Amino acid sequence: MSTLVVTNVGELTTNDPALGDESSLGRLHDAAFVVDDEQVLWVGANADAPDADEAIDAHGAAVIPGFVDSHTHLVFAGERSDEFEARMAGRRYDGGGIARTVASTRAATEEQLRIGAAERVGELRAGGVTTLEIKSGYELTTEGEVRCLEVAGDFTSERTWLGAHVVPPEFASDRDGYLDLLTTTMLEACAPHAKWADVFCDRGAFSVDEARTILLRARELGLAPRLHANQLAHSGAIGLAVDLECASVDHCTYLEDSDIDMLAGSATVATLLPGAEFSTRSPYPSARRLIDVGATVALATDCNPGSSYVTSMAFVIALAVREMAMSVDEALWSATKGGALALRRSDVGHLGVGACANFAILDAPRAAHLAYRPGAQIVATTHRAAP
Ligand code: NIG
Ligand code: FE
Repeated sequence: MSTLVVTNVGELTTNDPALGDESSLGRLHDAAFVVDDEQVLWVGANADAPDADEAIDAHGAAVIPGFVDSHTHLVFAGERSDEFEARMAGRRYDGGGIARTVASTRAATEEQLRIGAAERVGELRAGGVTTLEIKSGYELTTEGEVRCLEVAGDFTSERTWLGAHVVPPEFASDRDGYLDLLTTTMLEACAPHAKWADVFCDRGAFSVDEARTILLRARELGLAPRLHANQLAHSGAIGLAVDLECASVDHCTYLEDSDIDMLAGSATVATLLPGAEFSTRSPYPSARRLIDVGATVALATDCNPGSSYVTSMAFVIALAVREMAMSVDEALWSATKGGALALRRSDVGHLGVGACANFAILDAPRAAHLAYRPGAQIVATTHRAAP
């Protein structure tokens, strides 16, 4: 095992409140840190930096924990930019285009799916993502969902079964038949290939009662629940997520005060996906109200071909700061530690001693440049020791 010391870090964000300024960002200035092939070994003042086998001089640049992108749908084939253009011209997003991606994905070879996913993962990594979640949900057959989870397994252990994305066209007049397939054959075949189960619980997708049945069955088969909720309309889905102790409830575009109160008192992370509001011209979620009442907020890309073809966490942070009244530090925390909490991971999303040695060196003196210079390539190097 070899060691690496990174010196002359102008601004080091550790997300470990025991370090530096003792804020939740655990921030140090003029700092250094040491990692081995796996984990962080030491963090402190640059002047006290110990020797190591290798050294990187950051020349005053900022360093942050690697981003944890806790919500992506990046195994897919096909092309839907025409839907984006139509929305920018005034058309509403209703999830109807999912069926187009299902048709293209079913028609693709496994190798084509793998190549497409690898390209998107490459873009995420270049932008500082070191841990990512990937959902299935674009084949909606037993074999197809297994295939997508297997492709996802090339890139992450955080795999989510989303067979309950929408009812596929061949079951359009047999909804019960699809619900039966989901909760029997498909879940049984997919459970060994996933850690999480998700349901798109919203207008035009699955109801709260259907989502409950599907997630309870998934739980019996060893999958931990999470939920897509309130992207298109108000519903009781937030209550369901809290009730089932979902690790996270994602989108939260439409929230009642009672939803916000429920999230505040829960262990369920509210994962906000502003790339989706940007790409569907929808109102942004109430991040400020969630944070002010003490709910835990994560930020993720939602990378998918329909509602958010976004592979830049920096862009997500910029949107959260500009459009959702989050401070840069809040957005940075939500894109790192918040994402880790949404995946119930204590080993990533921070740079405390013992954490995975996952970090990004920025081409900027302060992490604020992630939002301050939207569109610029602010992440210079992504260092990833563990998924
Ligand atoms: O998270 N809302 C459901 N699923 C995706 C979009 C899927 C699509 O339009 O292809 C989402 O926004
Ligand atoms: Fe999604």
